Amino acid sequence: MNKLTLLTLALMIFAGFSCNRKVETETVSLETGWKFKTGDDLSWASPEFNDSQWDTINPDKHWEEQGYNLVDGFAWYRIKMIIPSSLINQAFIKDSLQFLLGRIDDCDQVFLNGELIGENGRTIYNKTSPNPEFFKERSCWREKRRYLLASGDQRIHWDKENVLAVRVFDQGGAGGMFSSPFLISMTGLQDHVLYDFSGSAFTFEGDSVIGKKFVLQNLSGNEEFKGKLDISAYSSEKGNLLWSESWPVNLQPKMKQEIAISIKMDITRPSILKLAFHETNTGDVLVKEMEIPYIQTPPAPSEPRINGAKVFGVRPHAPFLFKVPATGKPPLKYSASNLPQGLSINNETGIITGSISKKGEYTVKLKVVNSLASTEKEFRIVVGDLISLTPPLGWNSWNCWGLSVSDKKVRESASQMKSSGLIDHGWTYVNIDDGWEDKHDKDGNILPNAKFPNMKALSDYVHSLGLKIGIYSSPGPKTCGGYEGSYTFEEKDARAYASWGIDYLKYDWCSYWNIAPNPTPDQLKFPYREMHRALRKTGRDIHYSLCQYGMGEVWTWGAEVGGNSWRTTGDIEDTWESLSSIGFSQNKSALYSAPGHWNDPDMLVVGWVGWGPALHYTNLTPNEQYTHITLWSLLASPLLIGCDLSQLDPFTLNLLTNDEVLAVNQDPLGQQAVQVKQTETYEIWARDLEDGTKAVGLFNKTEKPLYVPVEMADLLLGGKCSLRDLWRQSDLGWVKSHFEMRTEPHGARMILLGRQK
Ligand code: GAL
Repeated sequence: MNKLTLLTLALMIFAGFSCNRKVETETVSLETGWKFKTGDDLSWASPEFNDSQWDTINPDKHWEEQGYNLVDGFAWYRIKMIIPSSLINQAFIKDSLQFLLGRIDDCDQVFLNGELIGENGRTIYNKTSPNPEFFKERSCWREKRRYLLASGDQRIHWDKENVLAVRVFDQGGAGGMFSSPFLISMTGLQDHVLYDFSGSAFTFEGDSVIGKKFVLQNLSGNEEFKGKLDISAYSSEKGNLLWSESWPVNLQPKMKQEIAISIKMDITRPSILKLAFHETNTGDVLVKEMEIPYIQTPPAPSEPRINGAKVFGVRPHAPFLFKVPATGKPPLKYSASNLPQGLSINNETGIITGSISKKGEYTVKLKVVNSLASTEKEFRIVVGDLISLTPPLGWNSWNCWGLSVSDKKVRESASQMKSSGLIDHGWTYVNIDDGWEDKHDKDGNILPNAKFPNMKALSDYVHSLGLKIGIYSSPGPKTCGGYEGSYTFEEKDARAYASWGIDYLKYDWCSYWNIAPNPTPDQLKFPYREMHRALRKTGRDIHYSLCQYGMGEVWTWGAEVGGNSWRTTGDIEDTWESLSSIGFSQNKSALYSAPGHWNDPDMLVVGWVGWGPALHYTNLTPNEQYTHITLWSLLASPLLIGCDLSQLDPFTLNLLTNDEVLAVNQDPLGQQAVQVKQTETYEIWARDLEDGTKAVGLFNKTEKPLYVPVEMADLLLGGKCSLRDLWRQSDLGWVKSHFEMRTEPHGARMILLGRQK
């Protein structure tokens, strides 16, 4: 590949498939020539500083990957280059010069010829001195570093040598510059005109029309852009044109144009939307491609079907609550035979309540009837010491509402869990994350803040729907959001939770750093043991979820301190980088997963998320979302939906209501999938299920469709096996020693293999 193709490709990736065609703009490459030194000294920003003794470094890879192991803290990068004025002469839009510096883990200050021009992804427009606190900012590693200077900015030395110095602070983990492109160029059409898809999700009308609204936006205050927007949809499997349309575009400075399209097509097959804005004045074409969501799972039949877990753990005397999850044409009538003494079922709602005094195992027969048919299912109730015999399925407030969670939002989420039908597929928990706490009163009782006027009433409401409710705290004095934690109040807090009727506690390390700054293995365990003891004393079954980001290989001792699940990683984000790096690194903990004890690679990032009051539709592509749910189900992970349930679009709902996929997650054997094959381009993960079948995930890590080859010997399967596509719920025939399956870019196939009887 020549340099220009490489560059164009890099640009396409940087702009998320959006690229500027036709006019090839001149650029100054910053891909090579960087010098590097760990440490910190502001004099290294100076153009006069002599860096000849520094190491050379590749800006496209974290410094850990280049021999600087476990360096957290400060380091500097420097590069020298001529910025030719021919850049301006050749550009149609002459007002701004941009510096693209990939991404930087975590924080940065960028100096051009000794002057600060950028900080943590924001351009510094006027001469200013460096902010000494810049390294404290969180989450800036996600930001693409694009610093934009006016062409007349005195900090640029046109046609002379310029020195760019990048001061980096790594807060932990991998550090440094990464993720090309690294270049300097004048801005082009793609920097001034934006396709904004964030306002709404794709809509579906019936089963053959897909709709989408988006906005074409002129970001420039001076330039006018006009021309024609060609929109088309292509089959991603066959490449043929499915639909096309053209729109005239006239964008005055700072104006927006709304576009609404409606495409008649097969909504069950993968396809690509292509946009090409042919701009008249510049002669440029602004191209954007994106996946159109496709619905794989057929609707549940009208005949009754009982979904959800096959086994349920409860402790003797603890309050019992289980709603029989069932689909089918309403009204449904529920009954259960062989219910152990102390339990009863509500025939209208299917909610089983009561308590059981005797330890033991009870096999109950659940029955659901409607006007069309009736169905039965065996359900095992195990009364003993262990709860959460299958991973919890539910919702948590954090990935959508962040600290802005309130009683109202939790009530609404519970009610939407029911009205959306999620409850009929086994989704149960409604969990309040950080942001509900006020203070401990003078008697040491934890008080909710004004957003939660009555916790008991809230929990009664959630229970009345057949759902369960969760809460959040920290073993430290403060939570991660700065609210009151449980330090020294463990027993009182546990008692308060139980008195409110809480069923789930997420216990997040946070400010426990202040108590144990360099925790020994015992110090890591201690606070979790304390709270476990307190929870057990209450006599209520409370799922105990440890959250300490995987420190000290928590999966090796989480069960020992009473955890029912434990986070194995830091926080997830709605990007492919985050999803794939977390998801595909879970092999290490696989053997520690078992009924009652689950590895937790963090909550789901599908639907409308935002970690605060302003939400956006997930940045994951539809295929990446299939990967997310496939992998998390195979991993026997707790599945906690992290989105606003009032805005559940058909695609997201479809993703979350495939009972065959969920059945893998809920399989009673509780075996977590292991990585069977890992190559540069694909992965295969597999787990055994209770009935002797094997669930397998094929994952395409590339940005192109891929035929993933499967050797049955790798899956330890010999002889003839039946093959079922779990997402489409359809049988694909028989396989013997080898098969291949087409897998979409960043997408997944989830299959079930059954040995011939
Ligand atoms: C983080 C935790 C998140 C969320 C947040 C609340 O430490 O990983 O999932 O609970 O704290 O402040």
